[in-house]
Amino acid sequence: MISKYPIDLSGLSTEQRNLALLRIGIMAELDAINLYEQLAASTEDEKLKKVFLDVAREEKEHVGEFETLLLAGDQEQVEMMKEGKKEVEDIIKDK
Ligand SMILES: [Fe+2]
Repeated sequence: MISKYPIDLSGLSTEQRNLALLRIGIMAELDAINLYEQLAASTEDEKLKKVFLDVAREEKEHVGEFETLLLAGDQEQVEMMKEGKKEVEDIIKDK
């Protein structure tokens, strides 16, 4: 789990620091999704399982919120995500 910045942000410009903060936020949300799904899988209590899975779904929404801001500020990320999507589509269609 992440409770501290995993990297030193002090040398970054305000814009780059904000993008880095969004990436850290995304990392934390993805980590939280994995954690809540593991917690759900670890209990036989159906109410608890349901709440953990509901919270995991909410964390996925949070990923989207941070990603929206990240992509608004990082055109290179937008382009590289398109490249990655195309690469995977090409790999998959060749099989
Ligand atoms: Fe969250």
